[in-house]
Amino acid sequence: MKPNVWIVDDEVSLCGLLEVFFEKKGFVPIARQSVADGLGLLNGPEPAMAMVDLSLGPDSGLVLVKAMVDRFPNLPVVVMTAYGTVEKAVEAVKLGAFDFISKPFEMVFLSKVVDKAMSNRILVSENRELKEIIKRQGVELIGQSTAVTQLKERIHAIASSESTVLITGESGTGKELVAKLIHQKSLRALKPCVVVNCSALSENLLESELFGHMKGAFTSAHAEKEGLFAVAEGGTVFLDEIGEMPLRTQVKLLRVLQEREITPVGGTVSSRINVRILAATNVNLEDAVARGEFREDLYYRLNVLRIYTPRLAERGEDPILLANYFLNKKSHVQKRFSETALRQIQSYAWPGNVRQLENAVERAIAFSTGEIIEALELDVPGQTLDARGAGLSAAGNAKMVSAGASQGNPNGVMGLSGDPGEPETPTNSPSGEETRVSPTLNEIEKAYIYWILTQNQWHKPTAAKILGLDISTLYRKIEKYGLKAPA
Ligand SMILES: Nc1ncnc2c1ncn2[C@@H]1O[C@H](COP(=O)(O)OP(=O)(O)OP(=O)(O)O)[C@@H](O)[C@H]1O
Ligand SMILES: [Mg+2]
Repeated sequence: MKPNVWIVDDEVSLCGLLEVFFEKKGFVPIARQSVADGLGLLNGPEPAMAMVDLSLGPDSGLVLVKAMVDRFPNLPVVVMTAYGTVEKAVEAVKLGAFDFISKPFEMVFLSKVVDKAMSNRILVSENRELKEIIKRQGVELIGQSTAVTQLKERIHAIASSESTVLITGESGTGKELVAKLIHQKSLRALKPCVVVNCSALSENLLESELFGHMKGAFTSAHAEKEGLFAVAEGGTVFLDEIGEMPLRTQVKLLRVLQEREITPVGGTVSSRINVRILAATNVNLEDAVARGEFREDLYYRLNVLRIYTPRLAERGEDPILLANYFLNKKSHVQKRFSETALRQIQSYAWPGNVRQLENAVERAIAFSTGEIIEALELDVPGQTLDARGAGLSAAGNAKMVSAGASQGNPNGVMGLSGDPGEPETPTNSPSGEETRVSPTLNEIEKAYIYWILTQNQWHKPTAAKILGLDISTLYRKIEKYGLKAPA
């Protein structure tokens, strides 16, 4: 008896085409055009497989996919998606769909998917594997600042394209994370994403890793080896630190980008590949091209779409958000940052960006004994509160202003010594015997904001930037502390 196959799609012509296709393949097709009619099929016997369109008129095919796998857990359901609806397809796979195929598809390709679905045993395990892949790739980009919101929008816009992407940004800003997100949100999400660090391998090793090698290609090539481009078939190859790629390898990569073909080291036969290439660099490639260290033609091939990961210092109040995120993620016990620690996190310049912050939090978790992590335990290098100021207008002005009343300071702001981390301690003992009274956090903040404002001629947008505050937050704080520019 021939096996049944269910086809649910509201496009009558496509249904017809699929019916002919499946008949030829030896199935008995049963076609329906709506979710409701599709659900009706569930009263009948289990078919060999099902094909479900995800955009079934106003109803989402997801409902139907879920109902089908609930009723028949081993039924391979292949979902059909329109261009640009990957997320829905991924959702369907999470719900238990076997695979997805995007429209328009070639019958040869469909044939492959059907064959795969039919090898019943593999099917169940592969389904599990797909879910595993999604889980493994589950990376998150934390941040609510304008810079990161724009970054997320850009990732979203770029993901569904097939073009090569060049990711630039300082070290530790999340370039690899961005690459993984682009892959995860693309139509290739269920296929591998292979990461290659171009600076970590010698020229020869890099080439054999990328393109594979034949047996005997070099002394240690005892067996034939598949290259990473081949391993990533259908998916994405992320070439990290592309600026460090040797010139000879650059020539070979250029060929891959132009011809979409690879030849293994020591081999003569080339084979076609289907991978999307993402590349990242923290060196300025334009400069490298000018110096003759990077091929200009390769640069143009890579720089089709461009995405920039901003420095952590450009991300408003994200440092605090990220610190809390890493703390929750990495600490096994309940811990939180003290107010001073949070202020330090927010005001420090983080030259090593998110990676440095992540490491600092990890260290603090390891070293802190109590529930509260103090600023000291964060162990952020010396310059803290004035880190941003120091890099900007305050550079070279090691002595902070003493904004005392004698200078016509209308704000009653306490004076600050050279190191704002250690504010001048007032003496309040009439006998001259020193009683050290630490200033409160509010006093430090007030003084610091006042100082930064003074340093910048009360230009609030600049001050807000240096302080790492939203302009509206700065206005609130000026109001709160009753700060006024000197007349
Ligand atoms: N916005 C973010 N949200 C959560 N984690 C992040 C974010 N940005 C970076 N990270 C984490 O910070 C670390 C560094 O990020 P990543 O490796 O992607 O940076 P990179 O730009 O590739 O750095 P490098 O140039 O040094 O290779 C990783 O552990 C990453 O998961
Ligand atoms: Mg990296």
